[in-house]
Amino acid sequence: MKNVGIKAIGQYVPKKVVTNHMLEKMVETSDDWITTRTGIKERRIAGKHERASDLAIHAARDALKKGEIDPHTIELIVVATISPDSNFPSVACLVQKAIGARQAAAFDVSAACSGFLYALTTAKQFVATGMYKNALVIAAERFSQIIDWNDRDTCVLFGDGAGACVIAPVLGNHGILSEYLHAQGHHSDIMSVIVEDLPPLDQEAKTMNRPYVEMRGQELFKIAVNSMAEAVDIVLKKAKVKKEEVACVVPHQANDRIITAVARKLSIPKDKFFINIHRYGNMSAASIAVALNEAVDHKHIRKGDNVVLVTFGAGLVSAASVVRW
Ligand code: ACO
Repeated sequence: MKNVGIKAIGQYVPKKVVTNHMLEKMVETSDDWITTRTGIKERRIAGKHERASDLAIHAARDALKKGEIDPHTIELIVVATISPDSNFPSVACLVQKAIGARQAAAFDVSAACSGFLYALTTAKQFVATGMYKNALVIAAERFSQIIDWNDRDTCVLFGDGAGACVIAPVLGNHGILSEYLHAQGHHSDIMSVIVEDLPPLDQEAKTMNRPYVEMRGQELFKIAVNSMAEAVDIVLKKAKVKKEEVACVVPHQANDRIITAVARKLSIPKDKFFINIHRYGNMSAASIAVALNEAVDHKHIRKGDNVVLVTFGAGLVSAASVVRW
């Protein structure tokens, strides 16, 4: 098996900024409530004609450009998303067409907020075994399309965006050192997107409500903290890396209070956690991809650093990875 590392990374977020104060005019909420309960100050929302594939294509182009990688050389495209343009074709196929990666295999992965790490780990297996020489891994969410904008419990939490990276074999003891994927399907009812239960040929049904997110936040909060801390312990042990040797933790950005609780549970100082939730809210699968890209760009991560990635999301699914940069 080959060692596999991240060769290039990029991101894209929509131009439109929606602040907490703007949400105050839409639902009964306040900047103070959202800030103190979540850490979020603003989020990006995609334009009317901007779909998940558009976000994914921009992020992919950014990663390819930064890594000076010719798209024609890409052999596999895996996109993590729970807000695709449509049921099919996959977002991965739309990316393939747009960037001209004609020889690539392409498919989507659905693992909610853990999607990026599920996609990264899946793609890594193909590259580690030598089946493909490289893979383009993207997380893209237009989460705003599955939000009920009258529901203050959920609409203040989420945003849209995309992150992308190219993985390939690396020499020496660096790259992706360990990974862990976990699922707790028995908790699937805690967070889901409700689709109306109508018979397909019901002549009475002239209109259907848009499917939207429902969530029991407090229950999720507790499980999130325990699952993320457990996942980090497991990947550190697998990678034989001690907590003191961790330079940076890039966690899923669902709630700043969740990150604080995970840091405390792990006894890893919170200042080692990269946080950008105040600017983007929870972008589901895209959160950790964008956070990782920004942590690298802002020099929070340097060559040789041990980086821990950890996510948690609806499913329920959790995932973690140790990457030596
Ligand atoms: N503005 C003002 N008040 C609000 C709002 C709002 N936007 N939303 C809820 N409230 C009210 C509630 O109605 C409640 O009022 P009450 O006391 O009169 O009943 C009060 O605020 C407290 O509500 P709680 O739900 O107890 O608030 P909590 O402190 O638990 O925070 C939150 C809620 C932010 C959702 C938190 O529980 C959380 O972050 N949970 C985890 C969510 C999560 O991680 N989701 C993403 C999973 S990842 C994925 O797969 C996409």
